[in-house]
Amino acid sequence: MSAGRGPSRRHDVRDLALADEGVRRIEWADRQMPVLAAIRDRFARERPLRGRRISACLHVTAETANLMRTLYAGGADVVLCASNPLSTQDDVAAALAARYEVPTYAIRGELDDSFYAHIDAAVDHRPQLTLDDGADVIGVLHTHRREQLGDVIAATEQTATGVIRLRAMERDGVLGFPVIAVNEAQTKHLFDNRYGTGQSTLDGVIRATDMLIAGKRVVVAGYGWCGKGVAQRARGMGARVIVCEVDPLRALEAALEGLEVLPMERAAPIGDIFCTATGDRDVIRREHLEQMKDGTLLANSGHSNVEIDLPGLRAISVGAAPAREHVEGFRLADGRRLYLLSDGRLVNLESAEGQPPGVMDMTFANQALSVEYALQHPGSLERRVHGVPAAIDAEIARLKLASMGIEIDRLSELQAQYLDSWDTRR
Ligand SMILES: NC(=O)c1ccc[n+]([C@@H]2O[C@H](COP(=O)([O-])OP(=O)(O)OC[C@H]3O[C@@H](n4cnc5c(N)ncnc54)[C@H](O)[C@@H]3O)[C@@H](O)[C@H]2O)c1
Repeated sequence: MSAGRGPSRRHDVRDLALADEGVRRIEWADRQMPVLAAIRDRFARERPLRGRRISACLHVTAETANLMRTLYAGGADVVLCASNPLSTQDDVAAALAARYEVPTYAIRGELDDSFYAHIDAAVDHRPQLTLDDGADVIGVLHTHRREQLGDVIAATEQTATGVIRLRAMERDGVLGFPVIAVNEAQTKHLFDNRYGTGQSTLDGVIRATDMLIAGKRVVVAGYGWCGKGVAQRARGMGARVIVCEVDPLRALEAALEGLEVLPMERAAPIGDIFCTATGDRDVIRREHLEQMKDGTLLANSGHSNVEIDLPGLRAISVGAAPAREHVEGFRLADGRRLYLLSDGRLVNLESAEGQPPGVMDMTFANQALSVEYALQHPGSLERRVHGVPAAIDAEIARLKLASMGIEIDRLSELQAQYLDSWDTRR
């Protein structure tokens, strides 16, 4: 499918006149997404999703647009709504609706009423497959639209936090259909969370503040895949990195990487830039905020806007005012100022452009191939959370390496037998 077709009949976007700019942005991203492009070419020939109704609730960005084009090329009847009101690229939403025949419901900065109405519009599509980034559509189907549960063959979930919720639903026996946890593919979290979030989080902090990273004490809360990426990139730029963790293994890993590991209460008074990446709530609390230095930056790249205690920040402040776009200064009674980036929401999505297309290529290849896999195995997937099959992971890594012109060695028959045997004298 190429740009230039008629507009979709159904949509709610800011302004269809932005479509030309959106097409340019989508095509630029596409040049960095060769794995998805290869899958799209195959889908266009084989049409494995023909006639299937798909509702996607993802960040409405140029990379997502290329996933939508891929599902459409595979024959799917696909609609898209936003998983986060602040990450929507209005020009991309316009292009999807006006040029790529994908009904799109997303307006950057939309308030809750519109945001949830748009999720409802995606559910009105009566999906047979859903794609989520935070389990929003799955949540609606399991609460207000239970009568539609039987229509759904399978779902995919892209992010760590969504998978945690879905595993809780599986444990409680309430999951109504099988879900493939795209986040758990190695070609997703090892690359998107680590290299993508690592780079784009610092990009967000820098774009928002224009601050020199070198020499600063950067406190990273959570040393999971995202936290490792942020910590490594910050160190590479000359920051002195402190890690806060609750998991002893991950804390040990950070310590053996040569990073300083401290509890938040000890990091709070010495850090210059704080970045949470845990998926947890109240990681930086009022008692930590009260100890922070004048000029401290507070950013979150984990889940939603709950990792930094925002009510606590407001409670200890005597005034607040915008300092720059995406930066709000909170004045404490003694005159110190703490600067909150992107309202405590995902700094890489709101102050920068989210993950670079080069890593979203692999994440969305997982989405596309997982949807195809679910349709190839009707009825045989149980109602639980499944990993992405290892063969899909390997195929994506193979395609990515090929696109980079990188060749690797192959096992000889003898080596394969040797590695497969317990009797190594044979
Ligand atoms: N910004 C983005 O674009 C982006 C991309 C991918 C994932 N995410 C989100 O980032 C979060 C982390 O993802 P991940 O893949 O790194 O997950 P992960 O499970 O690998 O890591 C999370 C880490 O946080 C630690 N943690 C939990 N509570 C903590 C607390 N109170 N204090 C300190 N550490 C704590 C855990 O022990 C774990 O090591 C999730 O919410 C995920 O949805 C964001």
